[in-house]
Amino acid sequence: MLPGMKKAGFKWTVDRIRALKGAAPFACVTAVDAVTSRWADDADIPVVLAGDSLAMTVLGYATTLPVTVEQMLHHTAAVARGTRRALVVADMPFLSYQATAARAVGNAGRFLKEAGADAVKIEGGAFRAATVRALVRNGIPVMGHIGLLPQNVRAMGGYKVQGRKPAEAAALVADARALEKAGVFAIVLEGMPPAVARRITRAVRVPTIGIGAGPACDAQILVIHDLLGLVSGPAPRFVKRFASLGATATRALSAYRRDVAAGRFPGAEHGY
Ligand code: KIV
Repeated sequence: MLPGMKKAGFKWTVDRIRALKGAAPFACVTAVDAVTSRWADDADIPVVLAGDSLAMTVLGYATTLPVTVEQMLHHTAAVARGTRRALVVADMPFLSYQATAARAVGNAGRFLKEAGADAVKIEGGAFRAATVRALVRNGIPVMGHIGLLPQNVRAMGGYKVQGRKPAEAAALVADARALEKAGVFAIVLEGMPPAVARRITRAVRVPTIGIGAGPACDAQILVIHDLLGLVSGPAPRFVKRFASLGATATRALSAYRRDVAAGRFPGAEHGY
């Protein structure tokens, strides 16, 4: 952690995140509401991503494709209200930045102006460099995202690890370099062999943030629902469950149901 981080008024900025390159690995999380983002902030996590995985974790969709700009604005604003020190990054949803750079700037600007985000994240490599340049030139900090791109799930034919073949790995390194040159302050590396993530991490001067990309990245990111076990069912291989809050909540709710049925709640102490 940075000296001064505990001082009142400390706030993570993109420059401070960039400065963590090559230091001890740091943790980032995806959170999409004020309560869980406050938990992350209280745990000294420097980056909270208002991720479009919202579509699955909270809204019940099977992919990230249906989530809208309005839904992402609504949840990003909640994350911004829930955090005090963490850098809040808004994930730009599918088709909010792909078609034209002008549309990307207009939509990204809304995340800073209306939702209080500090930066945005967009998916894609070298082919997205012109969009990154347009955003950065207009004062919008950008986090890149390469490797497995969930918004490309239809084009990829499923969620597949990327960069297994030497030519694909070289293309990912070139993607990361192109994004760095275009001005991103950090790059998410998703779903790739650890050796490829290590190569990319060595090739760029901005922090890499891994998810399913092994331990050599400058940072790691997990979705808070996964790491806290808020959801039931088997977790993907890259997830470590640090708690089982979903099971704890179900046990608590069952106890509440039983107490109501047995007349144990409300007790005299709960009345006026
Ligand atoms: O939406 C999300 O949570 C993400 C992270 C997994 C990087 O994009």
